[in-house]
Amino acid sequence: MDWKNTSVLVTGGASFIGSHLTDALIARGAKVRIVDDLSSGRLENIQEHLASGRVEFIQADLREPGITRAAMKDIQVVFHLAADHGGRGYVDLHQAGPASNLFLDGLVFWEARRAGVEKVVFASSGCVYPNFLQSDPDKEIYLTEDLVKPPYDADNMYGWAKLMAELTLRAYHREYGMKTASCRYFTVYGPRGVENHAVIAMIAKAFIGQNPFEVWGDGTQVRNWTYIDDIVRGTILAAEKIDDGTAVNLGTMERVRVIDAVQMVLEYTGHKAEILFRPDMPVGPLNRVADNSLAKKLLGWEPQVPFREGLKRTIDWYFATKDREQVRRILGRMLTER
Ligand SMILES: NC(=O)c1ccc[n+]([C@@H]2O[C@H](COP(=O)([O-])OP(=O)(O)OC[C@H]3O[C@@H](n4cnc5c(N)ncnc54)[C@H](O)[C@@H]3O)[C@@H](O)[C@H]2O)c1
Repeated sequence: MDWKNTSVLVTGGASFIGSHLTDALIARGAKVRIVDDLSSGRLENIQEHLASGRVEFIQADLREPGITRAAMKDIQVVFHLAADHGGRGYVDLHQAGPASNLFLDGLVFWEARRAGVEKVVFASSGCVYPNFLQSDPDKEIYLTEDLVKPPYDADNMYGWAKLMAELTLRAYHREYGMKTASCRYFTVYGPRGVENHAVIAMIAKAFIGQNPFEVWGDGTQVRNWTYIDDIVRGTILAAEKIDDGTAVNLGTMERVRVIDAVQMVLEYTGHKAEILFRPDMPVGPLNRVADNSLAKKLLGWEPQVPFREGLKRTIDWYFATKDREQVRRILGRMLTER
């Protein structure tokens, strides 16, 4: 697909992932419009494009009357990333906010069809996978896409909304012929990430010298943290290659326990601290790792950044750009908010 002069809407384009996606689309020559209410996104993430005039930016809540309809005007491809979303603390402790994604997503898809948009690509999540498959940290399981089926058992209201959006997009393709694709992101990290997600939280704690160093749960939870550049590349490939609403995992198959990630952070930052486990805090599924063979087959996609390498890049960015006093001020709140 030739992106040159393609008109693209990125909802939530001022976010961590949305802004990196915007960088990549601009680099490919696309014309990008962003709609973001800045409820968790940050203007500084897209500042360069605003200054150069390469991005049209509309600060607005897509749920407000008329906003989504106006946003779709003359758009060929929509990347829908706007969401009421946070990290584990937020997703476990807030149901009402993420529930609004049900109508936000429904509205975006409805208006996209009405406007004759050619393709809608959706930022879905590993949170659509049944919780009951992810409860044993000692099992070596890899989640394949076909495991999302009845009995559905998504991860909090946030996961249910992602699942409903995927099913809606599949139905839109089947019944309305609209081209759609969903990408199931697995715990994304990298520069511009925020402290409500585990890896950035670990880095922030090392940055401010937290001691004892708090780790939620007992540290044996398994994750497959996936680097931002791999996520962006996979999302654009999905836009190019999937039309029928198929949902594809974008995640590495590298299994990393929380405690091992913490040790890597402490080692690389040189921070020495006693570990304090907090079993009273939200831990999420105990074992969540993607199988990425479908992405390999359909998109020719494979993650290229191993966790240790991506972590170093992320720590270097965080230490070079953050202010200790400010991080101390916001960290407590950010761990459970957005
Ligand atoms: N970060 C991850 O690990 C991860 C994993 C799975 C899926 N996702 C999904 O990827 C997308 C981007 O997430 P992220 O982590 O980069 O950051 P994020 O959660 O901050 O992104 C959401 C963006 O949407 C904007 N937004 C929210 N509600 C809006 C509304 N009603 N109208 C307009 N804008 C609105 C926010 O300001 C923000 O910029 C989200 O859909 C998220 O659910 C992220």
